[in-house]
Formats: sequence, C-alpha cells, structure tokens
Amino acid sequence: MNRAWWKEAVVYQVYWRSFKDSDGDGMGDLRGVMEKLDYIASLGVDVIWLNPCYTSPDVDNGYDISDYYTIMKKAGTMSDLEALITAAHERGLKLILDLVVNHTSDQHAWFKESRSSRTNEKADWYIWQDGVKGTPPNNWRSYFAPSPWAWDETREQYYFHSFASEQPDLNWEHPAVREAVYSMMRWWANKGIDGFRMDVINLIKKRATYDDVADPLDLSYLGNQPGIHELLQEMHREVLAGTDLFTVGEIPFVGPEDGLLYVGEERNELRTLFHFEVADDMETMDLPRFKQIQKRWYEALYPSGIASQFLNNHDHTRQVTRFGSERYRVESAKLLGLMLHTLPGIPYIYQGEEIGMTGIRFSDPESYRDVAFRNQYAERIAAGESPGTVLSSMQLRARDNSRTPMQWNTGKAAGFTIGTPWMAVNPNYREINVEAAEQDPNSVLAFYRKLIDLRKTHPVMVYGIYRDLAIQDPYLYVYERVLDGVTWRVVLNVHDEPVTTTFGLPEEQLILTNYDTADINRLAPYEARLYQYEMP
Ligand code: BGC
Repeated sequence: MNRAWWKEAVVYQVYWRSFKDSDGDGMGDLRGVMEKLDYIASLGVDVIWLNPCYTSPDVDNGYDISDYYTIMKKAGTMSDLEALITAAHERGLKLILDLVVNHTSDQHAWFKESRSSRTNEKADWYIWQDGVKGTPPNNWRSYFAPSPWAWDETREQYYFHSFASEQPDLNWEHPAVREAVYSMMRWWANKGIDGFRMDVINLIKKRATYDDVADPLDLSYLGNQPGIHELLQEMHREVLAGTDLFTVGEIPFVGPEDGLLYVGEERNELRTLFHFEVADDMETMDLPRFKQIQKRWYEALYPSGIASQFLNNHDHTRQVTRFGSERYRVESAKLLGLMLHTLPGIPYIYQGEEIGMTGIRFSDPESYRDVAFRNQYAERIAAGESPGTVLSSMQLRARDNSRTPMQWNTGKAAGFTIGTPWMAVNPNYREINVEAAEQDPNSVLAFYRKLIDLRKTHPVMVYGIYRDLAIQDPYLYVYERVLDGVTWRVVLNVHDEPVTTTFGLPEEQLILTNYDTADINRLAPYEARLYQYEMP
C-alpha cells in the first residue's frame, strides 16, 4: 500500500455544541473548542473533524445550512473559526469541516428563490415534481419523514427531501448547482482548512426516474445510484486534484466491492469512506458478523483503498453502551479502542470516547431534541402504537444518546458550561470525566494515548496485511497485522465471561493490555491484548 500521511492519521471528532461552552449560554462554541485545543493535541491525534458550524436554522443540528459562507451565531464568528484553524495548525493539527451538499436548509437563499416560481433562475436547483396535493409523486420514504416529498403552495409542486422537509435536496443534474458547490469548496480550501467530511455524499445522484418501489422501507433507492462516480470524479477534478485535502465520504448502502469504486487510489474520487454495515445494520455486537465485515472490506480494498473505522459518532450511540458493556465499562472501552486502532483503516475518536463516556437513555420522550427522533416518534404514535413501546424500541439507537455534553470535571454541568446546558449532562459525570481520567494512569484516556502513540511509531498498524485467525469463534477475536517481518497479534475477548484460548503468547511479547496480569491461556471479560513478534 502506498504510504500517505492521512492513512497514518487518527481523527478526533468535535461535536462543538456539546464540547465546551465559552460564554455561558449553555451551548458549546468555537471558542470553547479553542480553550480545549491543547487537550485535543495532548491525545496525539492528527486531524480534527468539526461538525457543521455554518449559518443554519438548526433544525437538524447544523445539517440544514442556510449560508455556506458564514458561521452560525451559536457557534461564534468567522474570526473564531479562522483563529481555530491557525491555532490548530500551530499545534500540528489539521482541521476538516463537514461538507453538507446533498441538501440545504429550506431557508437558504437558493431554495427561497427556487420555490418562488416555476420560472425563476434557480427554479431547477432543487428537485421539483408535479403532483396532486395530498398524493406525493411516489411511495418512497425519507430518512426522517414518511414521504420525501413536501408540497409547496406557491409552485403547486412537490420538492424532494431525503431528510427532514426543512432540508430540500439539491439538483446535482444542474451544472450551475455543481459549480456553486465547487466554488464554495475552493473558497474554504483557500481559507486554510485541510479537507472535508462529506455528508451522505453518495445521495447526491438520484435515480433516473421516481417510480414506486416494491419495498419503501429499504431506503437504498436514495443512494449509490449509477452516475455517482462521474459526479465525484468531476468534484475531484474541479476541487481536489493536486491538493493535499483529506476527504472522507459518508457512503450508505454500499458494500465492499462498490466501496472500492469510491476510494480506489486510481479512481480519483475520495480518500476514504464511512460505510454503514456496522453502524446502521448491527443493533449490538454480533462478533461473527463483525469479523466477516472486516474481512470482506479489507479484502476488497487492500492495497488500493482504505476505509475508516468508527463505532460511534453524533448519530450513533456510544460504543461502550452499544457494542461493549457498561458493567465492564473501562475494560470494554479499552478493548473497543484497541480493536479500532489495530484493524485496517483510519480510526476516528468521537469526543468523550477517550474517557469511556456512555450513552444516555432518557425516560421522557420530551427530553429527546433530535428531529429524527421526534418525527419518527410522532409518526408511530399517530399510527396507534403505545408510547411505552415506541420509546423503549427507540432508546438504544436514539441519536441524542451520544450528544450529551462532554464531561470535563465534577463541577457544575460537568465543567461544560457555567449556564444551563442545552442538553442534559449524563449524571455519571461525577465518576466519568477528563479531570479524573488525567489523574489515573490506568484510565481509558491513558490507554488511548498509548494506542495513538503506537500508531505513530509502528507502521504495521497502518500498512500491515490483515489476517483473521479464529473467524468462527463467537467470543474471541484474534487477528494479526504483518509488515516487513513484524507481526502484531491482537487477542480480544469480546464477551462478559472469561474464555480459554490457545492464541496467547509469552508475556515478553505483550505490548499492551487492559488487565494487570495476563494468563497465557485464559482471558478475563473484555480482556484485550496486543502482542508483537518477529519472524526469524
Ligand atoms: C449526518 C446527520 C444528518 C444527516 C443529514 C448525516 O449523516 O451525520 O447528523 O442528520 O446526515 O444531513
């Protein structure tokens, strides 16, 4: 595999509204990120991914942008962002922004103009279809609503929205739309940002026709459509070619073979991708399936492409709660971290993951702020389901579970704000917080720092070939990475009972573990070991 800085990078995701509030209004902001920049740098990470902070009515927490060239007041000002870019660079950190161009806000000037008549200059910048009010053009669903079609009284037409009705989809068939997006991207690149995390980027190409589908609940008709690669190659030519910009695309509905088409190096599309075979399709840890997914993606991509590794972010509940164990919180947090940093791919850390934060579950539906939750909850109640059933079925996967404020210390609101936090702080902040973790040499935080440091100093973690040694085992995950005669063996007990094993190696070969003692033939619940040996 060709070497490149971005393949060796570790990315830290900052969901700024829940990271640190600098002015006491209860919402995190860019100055708050600045205050904590030294903390981020102290982790050893290379890249910060900042969730959208552009001007937005904030229906979907910034993913509904009304002006790509200005900053949301809640987040701060353009000078705050410029200062953050400079300060990050001074610390050797790169900063990437979210690029949300499948849709805009319905408050964007482009959409206001587009909806004003059927004949204005931007009339075709969005996707409009005739129809009879009350009868949407087809039987599709949107991610956040029962139909992706919303009626507009002025045009007496429907417009298309893959997400909430306040997020109309752009019409990428229109050359002027594409040019507007590309010039905006160039503008940000000139400002000094280091790349883009591209929001649902493979949704930008729509199906050729909007016919009914047999199974509307299988949303795969929304993305990965023929023609998507031509669009991404054009974007590459127009904006990315010849630059060092880092790009990671959010690519739903894609398996490994298609995945290669997005990230194969000779394809000139994206550097790397997030796929959703785990995040969207695996409710809790299903180890045999997880292993198969890793193997299939590795075999399809290596050596010409590289995927990204994540188990949680602002859309997916915290990994300890969903894929590990709250009972073995520290052990499983370390195990999942060790796994993500040693599997093939670029590891992403979602703020708070490095201290083992857990996902909250609110018992009152009103506490959920997320538009996706609220819309889906309302739809199911209206369909006659009981509130208790709906809530309990939605609790584990609710997006707000991972959006609670970062837990800095034991002070008021976990040190996140001196005001009233926009979203409740997880009450476990008294035990789980950065200050406590800094004082404990065995903390999850200390373990993450070691992992990141190992990646910096051991190319085998990045470039080593991958082989699974026990693919059928339901509890043990054992794999090796091999490069230039050096082998790293990872032995994980992804399970809350002890297991016996024949894969242990002598203690001298142990590089990192999450338990004090290592019994060569037995692993404790969620025990994780990393060994190194050299072939003669
Ligand atoms: C973002 C979500 C957002 C959606 C629509 C996603 O994948 O991560 O937070 O709601 O795109 O923009």
